[in-house]
Amino acid sequence: MWGGRFAEGPSAIMREINASIPFDKALWRQDIRASKAHASMLGAQGIVSKADCDAILGGLDQIAEGYARNGVPEDWDLEDIHMTVEARLTELIGPAAGRLHTARSRNDQVATDFRLWVRDTIDELDSTLGQLQLALLNQAEAHADSIMPGFTHLQTAQPVTLGHHLMAYFEMIDRDRDRFNDARTRLSMCPLGSAALAGTGFPIDREATAMALGFAAPTRNSLDAVSDRDFALDFLMAASQCALHLSRLAEEFIIWASQPFGFVRIADSLSTGSSIMPQKKNPDAAELVRGHTGRIIGCVTSLMITMKGLPLAYSKDMQDDKPPVFEAAGLLELCIAAMSGMIADSTFNTARMREAAELGYATATDLADWLVREADIPFREAHHITGAAVKRAEADGVALDQLPLSVLQEIDSRIDDGVFKALSVDASVASRNSYGGTAPDQVKAQIAAAKERMGLK
Ligand code: ARG
Repeated sequence: MWGGRFAEGPSAIMREINASIPFDKALWRQDIRASKAHASMLGAQGIVSKADCDAILGGLDQIAEGYARNGVPEDWDLEDIHMTVEARLTELIGPAAGRLHTARSRNDQVATDFRLWVRDTIDELDSTLGQLQLALLNQAEAHADSIMPGFTHLQTAQPVTLGHHLMAYFEMIDRDRDRFNDARTRLSMCPLGSAALAGTGFPIDREATAMALGFAAPTRNSLDAVSDRDFALDFLMAASQCALHLSRLAEEFIIWASQPFGFVRIADSLSTGSSIMPQKKNPDAAELVRGHTGRIIGCVTSLMITMKGLPLAYSKDMQDDKPPVFEAAGLLELCIAAMSGMIADSTFNTARMREAAELGYATATDLADWLVREADIPFREAHHITGAAVKRAEADGVALDQLPLSVLQEIDSRIDDGVFKALSVDASVASRNSYGGTAPDQVKAQIAAAKERMGLK
């Protein structure tokens, strides 16, 4: 492509280090879409003749059909997807192919293609995240009344419902979808027509290409347009945060599936066995979601470090922008799918969860609140009395509501048998009826509202 200036060809190592085609062939659809928009605009502006424009458009369609059928050939001499497409176009339509690159550089071309790819990927992720939310909603609905221990410090704190717990993740995924959509809005300016760095002298119509490619407007500064990879970083940051949420959810399943907890049975289809211990069923999918999250966070770090020292405008370092984005997107897709399956196909041991809440003194706060409400005792004192009751129950190896009234009255004579109503996990959960609280009525209301926001039911 630049033989005019060179006396000899590249060394083998130059070819190898330079070639981005092994990974950027993933951009072929976007590259062809952007080239068609550019060619049409060149034709409409009279920069390229109608006949050449038609030949170029026809050739690009033919290339797309071929790639869809047989994949993209990988020739390192052609360096990247842009030159691979152009070389093929030359084979198909001859010298007219050489007119396509008028008023364009690979710098604005790759910036445009990559934005389109990120945008397409955000749209796919948004729909798979919607599926995950649906799975969460269905299980939350089935378990709006299923009582489990709520934890702080991973110590039993207060009883909650499994539906409430699952809906917490629904909220996180809601914010993730928002973040991806924010990134999508911000990337909606089109770099095409910025050319190498300074714009072009040809009478191009940047509005037209921006509109044809579904962008809101052309970018306003050509230097920025070809140097900017914020859209990729925005994407990676949203992906990292989303993965972080999936990792926390995975961690919960790993803990819940352990024998001492026994809260959940993960489907066989998302587990593996051990080659030596016959009894084992390991939550590998969840562990890999946790593991992949580390890699996804590594991707955002990688691109930040690639970008942070680059002067304006394009430097070849920027070719390294794609692998971390492709890797993170692929890993995140897998993680979402794995967690959707885990949510949908797991069996929760609700009896075991309930028992854990009952035996963990999860209603101690309810006892203290009862003393405040019914016996007019200041909360600090009530807290102290309750602590003594828990100590006694622990010594006797019983749940709080299994302590006989006489024992409770030994601790504080103001306690009467009305207290037992407050000590059950059901009463505790039902009482937490503040907006957003764990009471089944609240949880059901949140599920209904979420369904409505998602356009379900
Ligand atoms: N393969 C290159 C990339 O992905 C395309 C842009 C090349 N531009 C250049 N000035 N060498 O970044």
